[in-house]
Amino acid sequence: MKQLIEIRLRFPASEIEAAEFAYASAGQAFAVLDEPELGLSPDLPPGTVELAFWPQEDSEEEAILELEERLPRRALSMVRARAGKVDWVERWKKYFHWEKVTPSLAVGPPWEPAPQDVTWRVMISPGEAFGTGNHATTRLCMGMAQEALAAFAAKGEPAPSVLDVGCGSGVLGIACRLIGAGRVLGTDIDELVLDECARNCLLNDAPMEVVTDPLDQVPGRFQLVLANILPNTLKTLASELDRHTAPGGVLVLSGVPENAAASFLPSFLAMLSRPATVTQRVLDTWWAATLTFDR
Ligand SMILES: C[S@@+](CC[C@H](N)C(=O)[O-])C[C@H]1O[C@@H](n2cnc3c(N)ncnc32)[C@H](O)[C@@H]1O
Repeated sequence: MKQLIEIRLRFPASEIEAAEFAYASAGQAFAVLDEPELGLSPDLPPGTVELAFWPQEDSEEEAILELEERLPRRALSMVRARAGKVDWVERWKKYFHWEKVTPSLAVGPPWEPAPQDVTWRVMISPGEAFGTGNHATTRLCMGMAQEALAAFAAKGEPAPSVLDVGCGSGVLGIACRLIGAGRVLGTDIDELVLDECARNCLLNDAPMEVVTDPLDQVPGRFQLVLANILPNTLKTLASELDRHTAPGGVLVLSGVPENAAASFLPSFLAMLSRPATVTQRVLDTWWAATLTFDR
């Protein structure tokens, strides 16, 4: 049996969000091993964060090269080790707390009481899949999804169908379901989301179907389609995202760095089969957009 290798990379703390996003979007299992607030490694320089990942490919070299291409800046240092035992629950407990993702919706862990001053509470048992709700790309996507659901309800379409592409922990799909969506289908390229989504759906009593089939093999059209993935993946999936959004439907795109949006948007729109009305938003250097199709 192949020995599981753990690669530990240290980044300037300012790069952490982009690094985490690159790992998650590449479908790689990763976790924060240490950061200044945790203080677990005495030799961690101030202002530095340590991430670990466990290459899924046969070749670690390939996995590292692919990640380096996606990362905004090279890591400060890299250590290769045999994977050891890590107490994930203890680590998560230190830095995953209930937080408002939108003014009326909070996301948090099952071991802490949920806030009372929100309408919707999404409980996430954190694991390896991306999606604890605190990343700016998730917040943007969630806010826009919530607005789209409210607009459907106002038009007399109270339980629209939702497709959550790159569902990770299921946080977006589960939130939509709690808000009032009808059928919710999540897709991801990473098999580990199957268990994690199932666990989170149970925790929230919010059923959602999840598949790991490529998008071109997923049948159906949906009134609301959400995709929080890296820009190049969004472009690769453009025609499928278009095809899966029903006439009169809404497509929410997130995961694009603000400084890449000006070139991303026209090239994405050029790949669609129909015109869309675009609403754009930026949060903490990340950009997202809602594309509304008339037909
Ligand atoms: C940034 S995470 C988003 C997770 C969650 N939806 C959120 O908003 O917090 C991106 C997810 O997309 C998945 N992914 C990457 N490429 C994909 C593809 N071509 N099709 C479907 N999922 C993909 C990754 O495995 C990862 O779970």
